Amino acid sequence: MTVRISDDAVAIACGADAVAAAFMAAGVAVERVSSWGMQWLEPLVDIDGVGFGPVSADQVADIINGKASSLGRIADHPFIATQTRLTFARAGKTRPLSLDDYYATEGWLGLAKAREMGAQATIDTVIASGLRGRGGAGFPAGIKWQTVARANGNQKYIVCNADEGDSATFADRMVMEGDPFMLIEGMAIAGFAVGANKGYVYIRSEYPHAIAKMEAAIKLSAHLVAPFVVEVRVGAGAYVCGEETSLLNSLEGKRGEVRAKPPLPALEGLFGKPTIVNNVLTLAAVPWILTHGGDAYAAYGAGRSKGTMPIQIAGNVKHGGLYEVAFGITLGELVNDIGGGTASGRPVRCVQVGGPLGAYLPPAQFHLPLDYEAFAAADALVGHAGITVFDDTVDMAQMARFAMEFCAIESCGKCTPCRLGSTRGVETIDQIIAGKNVEANLALLADLSETMKFGSLCALGGFTPYPVMSAIKHFPEDFR
Ligand SMILES: Cc1cc2nc3c(=O)[nH]c(=O)nc-3n(C[C@H](O)[C@H](O)[C@H](O)COP(=O)(O)O)c2cc1C
Ligand code: SF4
Repeated sequence: MTVRISDDAVAIACGADAVAAAFMAAGVAVERVSSWGMQWLEPLVDIDGVGFGPVSADQVADIINGKASSLGRIADHPFIATQTRLTFARAGKTRPLSLDDYYATEGWLGLAKAREMGAQATIDTVIASGLRGRGGAGFPAGIKWQTVARANGNQKYIVCNADEGDSATFADRMVMEGDPFMLIEGMAIAGFAVGANKGYVYIRSEYPHAIAKMEAAIKLSAHLVAPFVVEVRVGAGAYVCGEETSLLNSLEGKRGEVRAKPPLPALEGLFGKPTIVNNVLTLAAVPWILTHGGDAYAAYGAGRSKGTMPIQIAGNVKHGGLYEVAFGITLGELVNDIGGGTASGRPVRCVQVGGPLGAYLPPAQFHLPLDYEAFAAADALVGHAGITVFDDTVDMAQMARFAMEFCAIESCGKCTPCRLGSTRGVETIDQIIAGKNVEANLALLADLSETMKFGSLCALGGFTPYPVMSAIKHFPEDFR
């Protein structure tokens, strides 16, 4: 009997350590593995492929004695069986820090392939895959790599953006905690492709488990990726430090303030040297792409959104967790079929996709396919693909206020539309909520939003109008 229990932060927070200890106290060996991503079932116990969950320590004896009812085979659970897991292929199955497990599941094949085919062919493969940046902007990864490869400079860097500040997102954390060698391999491939011998993983301090796993994995795999060297850097947890130039300032030991572009980080990035800044999920997709080919990856997806996206379903939802699927699935399928509707059992009133800068969308928009272009056409954002679900008790005027206040608190202060506009925006929404000069203040808020949208230096100030104005557009009754 092999008992597997995740040591992912969510499983631990739900009591997985106590459950593992109860099995071991009963003389049963336990393997601590990565998480399947079915967070509503944590602590999830996997015994020879059959699942039990959520399990508490006092149920362990019944499970051992065959008296507990199971969830059936985990691989057949609809939440798992309907996914296309490329990046999360090992999730739930392997021990995060086991090089043996990693080797046994296609580990290091991508790096070997890259070294065999050469740097330019590696870049060409990433271009052919159509892989776009998973951090938010959706910029083609291969084009960025090509720019860095062609840039002059004897020192180049790979920076992995693991700041993961968006609400409802946790896929980067799951990669780092559950499959850290995959990320290191992706970074080493990037380093090989562009001629960079040094990589940094910038992780927020709120991710202690991810930091520990990455540091351990870097030590264990140093000889495999040499001469490429990877180091972890811990950020203090400012949302704006996820913005790439702000992140670079923070990495250099400076205040996390956004830099004006140009110059692009690809040409003048960390310490003024050509630098790839890529999200965890972007780099984590690369080993699969190199192993299976760019065309195999591009065969998944819709339109110009190629491949799969690890979607994170959270908020007031019945089945919260990580769901990896090809682009093109509709929002309604994700929220209602996969997510199972709200945890409260009340009707879904809206979802926010893409973190705090994403639009609030009503069920009338649930036909939207997950696709960068389709979302942009609806004034919405795929971003890092976090979905926050709200039921019909949500007050959308308060949510608009929250979005504006978030910007006011997190603004780096460099440009006026964001620094001052967000504070004036909160005051204006407060007036509307108080019922004072509502129509005039709504017009003022629309005007202010236009100024922030077009006048801000980065997307923090530039995209905050999207949640604010979408709340007013789709839920006008909450403002009047
Ligand atoms: C305010 C703000 C916060 C951001 N936070 C993150 C983040 O936490 N993680 C991330 O990968 N990208 C974040 N981004 C996007 C990055 O600036 C950048 O586009 C990304 O790291 C590039 O990697 P990619 O091409 O692989 O997505 C943020 C952007 C803005 C404007
Ligand atoms: S938009 Fe906001 S966060 Fe971005 S540079 Fe301007 S002040 Fe800084």
